[in-house]
Amino acid sequence: MNDRRSFLKQSSLIAGGLWLSPSLLQARQKISPNEQIRVALIGANNMGFGILRHHLALPEVECVAICDVDQNVLDKRIKEVEEATGKKPERYTDFRKLLEKKDLDAVIIGTPDHWHCLIAVAACQAGKDVYVEKPMANSIGECDLMTQAAANYGRIMQVGQQQRAGQAFIESREFVKSGHLGKIRKVNIWSNFNYGLGNEVKPATPTPQGVDYDFWLGPAPKRDFNPNRFHGSWRHFWDYGGGLMSDWGVHLLDMAIWVEENPAAPSTVLTYAKNVNKENRDRDTFDTMNVLFPKKDFLINYDMNGGLQSGPYNKPYGIAYVGELGTLVVNRSGYEIYPEWDGTAKAAKCEVKKLEGTTESHNLHVANFVDCIKTRNQPSCPPEAGRLAALHAHIPNIAARIGAEQLIWDDAKRQFIGNNEANKLILPEYREPWTLPKL
Ligand SMILES: NC(=O)c1ccc[n+]([C@@H]2O[C@H](COP(=O)([O-])OP(=O)(O)OC[C@H]3O[C@@H](n4cnc5c(N)ncnc54)[C@H](O)[C@@H]3O)[C@@H](O)[C@H]2O)c1
Repeated sequence: MNDRRSFLKQSSLIAGGLWLSPSLLQARQKISPNEQIRVALIGANNMGFGILRHHLALPEVECVAICDVDQNVLDKRIKEVEEATGKKPERYTDFRKLLEKKDLDAVIIGTPDHWHCLIAVAACQAGKDVYVEKPMANSIGECDLMTQAAANYGRIMQVGQQQRAGQAFIESREFVKSGHLGKIRKVNIWSNFNYGLGNEVKPATPTPQGVDYDFWLGPAPKRDFNPNRFHGSWRHFWDYGGGLMSDWGVHLLDMAIWVEENPAAPSTVLTYAKNVNKENRDRDTFDTMNVLFPKKDFLINYDMNGGLQSGPYNKPYGIAYVGELGTLVVNRSGYEIYPEWDGTAKAAKCEVKKLEGTTESHNLHVANFVDCIKTRNQPSCPPEAGRLAALHAHIPNIAARIGAEQLIWDDAKRQFIGNNEANKLILPEYREPWTLPKL
């Protein structure tokens, strides 16, 4: 191809959303059919499509189908994949039909949280591997079902807690585990985001053309359509999500659990939850929460403010591992160690370390999943890790909903001790004809 033609070809790819470079497209053509990994995307509006793009950046991955209950999203995403890869994915509106496909190795689940369990278990039962977005599910009990399903049916399940693949977090974990910071006494976590307030109240509207809203609701209670309870902003309503507590909580709490000697479920959990700003806001979830998780090795201290966007160390969100010799502060952009001062020796108690300019790590998390599809090794965020992180977010939400300051979780029995009201929220009640998956 002459330079101008190759430039034009590259420009058209850029216009089409450049996610596949010409060299990658060439590499794809060299992959033999038995080396190919065939994936399908279920839930394609936002994050799911981002995750699909990272899959397609690997030459051996092909997108064979896309499924969504919003035909507008479906048409747009099918067109984008066809433009980028030259192959048109099949079109599905019902994931059950999609899962009947034989030439399909894995599914990516990018639906709202209330759908994760039903789709993931059905996928495991159909013999497909699963990349499921975080939080693993919208309830404690559904996470359990998914963990069991992956084990029972021998499937690879990667939960979308991609920080586990991030350089800043991997190095931070090494500093904590190597003793560089001395004994860790606390892990302080904060997440302050304006979007945590939810949208302003809006009137109900007719369901948009092309949307099967009854299917979108699925196992959740029947409701009239309201844009606030739809794409993106569903996360502020208990029926579909857990607000800022589970949206960001699972990512950040995962990083505290990950450095534990033996990562464990919480037992006693102390929760303070309040709605400071709910005026004219449409949401069920809380904007202000502080949660204490006393763990065997240290105390986890989680501080959340929806509607604020600044925080400690001039970061809206972050994790501070507080050690006897120094504190390491990390988020997706990097980390820095703040040493304690030894007054006698007139010296810092530990060496200062810093890493700047790191970015998102979805691509590496996806690459790990695809590698595990081939090797059958456990991925970097296996179901149990997803379940533990989700537990740390769902327990405070349950406490907030029932107004309990303290809850005690018995992980062996999978129930709360002495609180029946909390126990009732371990699993949601599914709306017919949907029923909880049977394993
Ligand atoms: N890992 C991360 O950093 C990260 C970031 C953002 C979102 N997420 C997670 O990704 C998931 C999706 O979030 P989002 O913001 O992209 O949501 P979204 O509302 O933008 O998109 C969800 C899509 O799923 C579709 N859908 C709903 N029910 C369906 C069904 N039964 N079958 C097929 N399609 C269905 C919707 O029509 C919509 O197109 C959530 O679990 C969210 O927590 C993860």
